[in-house]
Amino acid sequence: MVEPADVQKGLEDVIALESRICYIDGKGGRLIYDGYDIRDLAANSNFEEVAYLLWYGRLPTSTQLAELKQRLAGLRELPAPVLRLLTAMPRDALPMDVLRTVVSALAVYEPDETKPGEASIGGAQRLSAILPAILGTIHRLRNGLPALAPRPELSHASWLLYAIRGTDSNELETRALDVALILHADHELNASTFAARVTASTLSDLYSAVTSAIGTLKGPLHGGANERVMELLEEIGTPEKAEEVVRAKLARHERIMGFGHRVYKVEDPRATILREWSKRIGEAKGNLRYYDLLRAVEGVVHREKGLYPNVDLYSGSVYTLLGIPKDLFTPVFAASRVAGWTAHVLEEYQDLRLIRPTARYVGPVDLVYSPIGSRG
Ligand code: ACO
Repeated sequence: MVEPADVQKGLEDVIALESRICYIDGKGGRLIYDGYDIRDLAANSNFEEVAYLLWYGRLPTSTQLAELKQRLAGLRELPAPVLRLLTAMPRDALPMDVLRTVVSALAVYEPDETKPGEASIGGAQRLSAILPAILGTIHRLRNGLPALAPRPELSHASWLLYAIRGTDSNELETRALDVALILHADHELNASTFAARVTASTLSDLYSAVTSAIGTLKGPLHGGANERVMELLEEIGTPEKAEEVVRAKLARHERIMGFGHRVYKVEDPRATILREWSKRIGEAKGNLRYYDLLRAVEGVVHREKGLYPNVDLYSGSVYTLLGIPKDLFTPVFAASRVAGWTAHVLEEYQDLRLIRPTARYVGPVDLVYSPIGSRG
């Protein structure tokens, strides 16, 4: 039997493909989208511009950006059968389960957008544009409220907030969400993007790839961590209790959500930016409770384990202060990462090679088959 080389559990440090989309400098704590530092994008850009950058590999001109904004705003409407499907879902269903099911169902009604290859840019824009309406409708229907009509005059971030809350957001709130959407839009070969690329590498369609990605993002080791962070804050209650609660968890070998990262060996630059926003939005709302608790937790975890915060530590506090319910955090993540997923799928189609690694077989090879009737 041919022995493959060393097993890299979790594919750690395995370079699986070449990509122009995203670079993570794990030791320097930098994140780059198509050549641009995430700090510059977070300070100056918006979700639509970043989506353009990820899809086309360059920043848009003002005309190109205006065209894209108009196009995305025109793609917010839910098809009637999809609205019926949403209405038929149990009210207590997990939003990520509903989102995954609805994105999968959408493909049935939009076959032209699903064709693999260059044509998928239409699907990329459609999926990015429609996710806020899906999220908002999930939330409204479960509260016994009717779905809201799209508001094409709103930016992507303000439409997403309006779709969930049913009220207009002010400038600071819109900016806070826009920054969060920029920061979550891509992250190289994270688990959900890898899942999307594996699906696309079989020449399957974009909607299937995004469905795979949503299912992968759902896990608490990936997209679900910020929800658990907020649960931890509720458990801790006051900053003075952080030490005791966190140390007890570590003593039980529990993981503290929002800390550690496979690639960053220093602080995740997204955490640095979201920490500032957690404080800023907390000050604006007159509620620094989450920020103070998070700072206390951060201190204990760093001292005890030497771990740095990742993107999920502060994002939940920002979302909570924006009025986004906890179980919509991961769907909001999806509503941003969809830009990156689809950019990666488009890239995969351009340089297609079936992604199919190998396993080291550790079972026997010489067992003698016995007919079922003669087994004990
Ligand atoms: N809390 C406590 N201990 C931790 C944590 C943590 N958050 N993260 C890592 N460790 C410890 C592990 O227990 C392990 O210790 P050991 O060697 O004594 O057993 C060591 O650090 C290495 O951990 P691994 O799981 O091997 O590291 P990996 O690179 O696989 O982990 C991961 C990355 C999954 C993100 C991990 O840090 C973790 O579970 N973090 C908490 C979940 C989280 O915040 N996820 C969001 C990530 S960002 C995102 O996906 C958007």
